[in-house]
Amino acid sequence: MSKIQIPRCYRPVYPTPAALVTSIDSDGKPNIITLGEVAMVSLKPTRVSVGMRPATYSNGLVKNSGEFVVNFANADMVREVDFCGTRSGRNVDKFVETGLTPEPAVHVKPPLIKECPVNLECKVVGVLSLGSHDLFIGDVVMMHAEKDILLNEERGQVNPEKGLIFAMNSYWGFGEKLGDAGLSRKS
Ligand SMILES: Cc1cc2nc3c(=O)[nH]c(=O)nc-3n(C[C@H](O)[C@H](O)[C@H](O)COP(=O)(O)O)c2cc1C
Repeated sequence: MSKIQIPRCYRPVYPTPAALVTSIDSDGKPNIITLGEVAMVSLKPTRVSVGMRPATYSNGLVKNSGEFVVNFANADMVREVDFCGTRSGRNVDKFVETGLTPEPAVHVKPPLIKECPVNLECKVVGVLSLGSHDLFIGDVVMMHAEKDILLNEERGQVNPEKGLIFAMNSYWGFGEKLGDAGLSRKS
């Protein structure tokens, strides 16, 4: 196998989820942004990070309110995901335009998106300016998940099969499952 070296690579970590992140303005009006930069950063306490460019409308909303919700979309929501990633909430109401439904969260003001099977209510515990993106670290204060996609209800482990993935500037679905974690320990 021959390899080449790429010193200035673009998006070297892939794939990532294609998530819809909700926030609100000071009047309580909600917005949605599509983000590929979403990651787990701590298991105990449960914390996630989202990377948002300062120029996005959502960046300022999350900085001001200190709260956001990560909503994971299914593969059949690809048009809505693309819409929310190519228009700004400064100019359009993305809930109205996509027909997605806002639902009240339990602990934070930004709404859940009803059509998304998983929603993570987050309170910001840190913001880092890293270059093109600001990294927001969110304490996950509540998870909502559709019962029938949960593999383990107590731990909130989700069957990812219907999820939507973002890689190489394209949307992808999941491929086949190759095995369970820990398989190398079994004889
Ligand atoms: C699939 C996809 C992934 C994206 N990922 C990010 C991201 O991780 N960070 C970011 O700042 N913008 C990302 N964007 C771009 C924003 O979603 C886009 O600039 C959006 O219009 C900003 O909305 P707002 O101004 O209402 O906040 C992505 C767009 C798409 C389509």
